[in-house]
Amino acid sequence: MIYSLLPLILVAPAVWGHGQLRNFIASSGTWSAADAYTTANASSPIRHVNTYGPVPDFTTADVTCGPGGNIPTTVLAPVKAGETVIFDWGSWTSDHPGPVMTYIAACTGGCANFKGDTGNVWVKIDQDVYYPDRTTPGPWGEHILHLTPSYYQVTIPAGLADGEYLLRHEILGLHVAGTYMGAQFYPQCVQVTVTNGGSVTLPQGVPLPGSYNPNDTSGVLVQLWQIEANPSQLYYIAPGGPVVLPGGTGDWGRATYAGTPQPPLASSSASASSTVASTTSLASSTVITVASPSSTSTAPVASGSAIAKYGQCGGQGWTGSTVCAAGSTCTTLNTYYSQCL
Ligand SMILES: *[C@@H]1O[C@H](CO)[C@@H](O)[C@H](O)[C@H]1NC(C)=O
Ligand SMILES: *[C@@H]1O[C@H](CO)[C@@H](O)[C@H](O)[C@H]1NC(C)=O
Repeated sequence: MIYSLLPLILVAPAVWGHGQLRNFIASSGTWSAADAYTTANASSPIRHVNTYGPVPDFTTADVTCGPGGNIPTTVLAPVKAGETVIFDWGSWTSDHPGPVMTYIAACTGGCANFKGDTGNVWVKIDQDVYYPDRTTPGPWGEHILHLTPSYYQVTIPAGLADGEYLLRHEILGLHVAGTYMGAQFYPQCVQVTVTNGGSVTLPQGVPLPGSYNPNDTSGVLVQLWQIEANPSQLYYIAPGGPVVLPGGTGDWGRATYAGTPQPPLASSSASASSTVASTTSLASSTVITVASPSSTSTAPVASGSAIAKYGQCGGQGWTGSTVCAAGSTCTTLNTYYSQCL
């Protein structure tokens, strides 16, 4: 008995300072996760991880849903298309500055049979990256989790077709990312059933593993101090490509934060779009569904050099080019963000 407790006692203090997803909160209720150092809870929609620590090797299948085997559970949390859900990290006491990113994948064959560790299945729906002029809660997405409670809000894409999906929510700690393979990814997956949806089907996404390159000097192999010494928010580009199917309320985790609203990283689309296959396509009907909240916004006046498809081309505070590359049109998604689609 006493011996069986020893590993827990010895391991836990060493990993304090990291953390795990504690609850997933939706209109359907609060869904809790088992602690990483207890047995998995098959009745939780949150797939079990077995450590508070980061993914040991982010080029392996551990990066898909975190270390712990990526075992499907028997429960899916109902969520409505367009509703805002909360990823509750309990008490995230770490100081691991970096982006917070959320992806969604359709559970082909049902989530009971879906791991999402092969194919271009992960569609980024939200990210909060680095905004140098944001002081509350702080310039990085991870700083949102320093607030109490450690909530991160994400909107399920409006009009998304009903069905079973896997949400993949992740903190990327960059505090030791200047060392090869030092970037710390903390992904967690939640099985959901989308209801009240529409006709929006997911575009092609990115593969995980496969999209996080240890030699990516824009987003993975980076020196935190160098980014923070550079006043340009264009300096840091989150891995995994841009948000390709925005949630509709903006791309920061907490809509009520006190600072100036910041758009998602301006240049991430243009510079990181190589990780998103150029065959990705959103039907025009899809765009209209997602963009419906801002029908009163006027299209930006075209100026500047062409922005690649999926790049930002407008929004409150935007000073960059408003011209989209041939084959895409600058589309207003919300007050803060227009995107070449
Ligand atoms: C397992 O998860 C469900 C759903 O979140 C929760 O109601 C239940 O209390 C959890 N059980 C344990 C033992 O943690
Ligand atoms: C990263 O770069 C190093 C040095 O050039 C190389 O040895 C290594 O194979 C690269 N890793 C990947 C995953 O490309």
